[in-house]
Amino acid sequence: MDKIVISGGRTLNGTVRTSGAKNAALPILIATLLAPGEHRLANVPELADVSSTLSLLGRIGCPSLVNGSIRLDTSRIAFSEAPYDVVRKMRASVLVLGPLLARCGQAKVSLPGGCAIGTRPIDQHLKGLEALGCRFELSGGYIHGHVDDLVGADIQLDMPTVTGTENIVMAATLARGTTILRNAAREPEIVDLCNFLISLGARIEGAGTDTLVIEGVSRLRPATRAYRILPDRIEAGTYLCAGAMAGGDVTVTDCEPEHLQPLLRKLEAAGCTIDTTATSLRIRRDGPLKGVDVRTEPHPGFPTDMQAQLMAVLSRAEGASIVEETIFENRFMHAAELKRMGAVVETRGRVATVRGVESLTGAAVMASDLRASAALVIAGLSAAGRTEVLRTYHLDRGYDDMVGKLRGLGAAIARVPDDLHDPAALDEAMGLAPTPGAGSSTSEARATA
Ligand code: UD1
Repeated sequence: MDKIVISGGRTLNGTVRTSGAKNAALPILIATLLAPGEHRLANVPELADVSSTLSLLGRIGCPSLVNGSIRLDTSRIAFSEAPYDVVRKMRASVLVLGPLLARCGQAKVSLPGGCAIGTRPIDQHLKGLEALGCRFELSGGYIHGHVDDLVGADIQLDMPTVTGTENIVMAATLARGTTILRNAAREPEIVDLCNFLISLGARIEGAGTDTLVIEGVSRLRPATRAYRILPDRIEAGTYLCAGAMAGGDVTVTDCEPEHLQPLLRKLEAAGCTIDTTATSLRIRRDGPLKGVDVRTEPHPGFPTDMQAQLMAVLSRAEGASIVEETIFENRFMHAAELKRMGAVVETRGRVATVRGVESLTGAAVMASDLRASAALVIAGLSAAGRTEVLRTYHLDRGYDDMVGKLRGLGAAIARVPDDLHDPAALDEAMGLAPTPGAGSSTSEARATA
């Protein structure tokens, strides 16, 4: 396995390009199941979760070819099943439930169970699909779903769940009659999924609002042109946080600034200057960081997927900051690791109080989820000395070439094998000048990225 090593203290300068959004790419890849034939998708990020989704679709009987863009053939479905070994690695696999029921009338999906950031049930997915006529039973850890006649319904979600909304919308596109989905999630990734479904011939109104109206059609067909996945607002936001933390002058290109408004307001309040164009964001910071309070909320509120990265920034901000997590019940695991780097964070239930410190110190740290790992990388960029972030597979799930992108901004960072400990070899991998007297040959530096 690999780890990421960072030598902190450099400012970041330059330009970084935003990749396609993970949380749009996964449902859109899965939505191709609704329209038999060959699909083409562009701007799909290179991520472990995308590979897992393609391998799940392959097991269902839909082969794909990745060559810059993705070609996916959903002409035939051999198995309507998402097995445990795939769902265990990636909760979003549960998104096959709606499309498989709509296309095949049956689906077998492993129950996702708990995960590092909370229990994350799928009762709302099932409630919505049941309203459309699906029947479910649980056995052997699997949900077995059947439907004879998929019929539109009026559905009220108890909370605006993102993947729940996606699952129900996908099934409803092929239901007989009209579905009204109330208290739907409004995330930009849902709008992107709806736009993709519309390109297949679906009839959907209200995307981006809390009420979606879906007029079922008898069949969907692949679009003639490649569909381009929208930019990843969380990735863009992560590089803005990196710029805020390290100081300097960073421009994030190919992004959708409108989708980042809640984060931009917090970064400005924290003392950063932000310039916006139609597709780019430039962040600069000359003075010290200032503490701000933040509360996560469904879109258009502050995204839970940016909470950890902003907390890392606030760990060095003057004064106290209150961070409230309202979406997930157990999403402060990064706090304990940040504390190991010298941050002062006190957590009580869903509220964390962060008291900014002058400096952090590098340490070996590990996180149990994707965004928490990104927070530790951000902390490492400004920490004195060397930080080692273990368990890189979390970052691989959701960040397309994070090490390469941060290096492009001037960070001293490298991805190396877990068992590489020689200080000179680590410095060499990070592109640092060798320390006089600390002997290690070039061949010892086994950077893997
Ligand atoms: C999606 C995102 C994830 C993000 C999250 C919240 C994808 C692939 N993942 O996850 O990155 O952090 O939205 O913005 O898009 N809930 C229930 N019952 C349900 C469904 C959800 O109680 O049936 C609860 C969850 O436990 C959680 C809250 O609703 O407390 C929101 O979860 P949800 O929006 O469903 O998150 P995901 O769709 O899993």
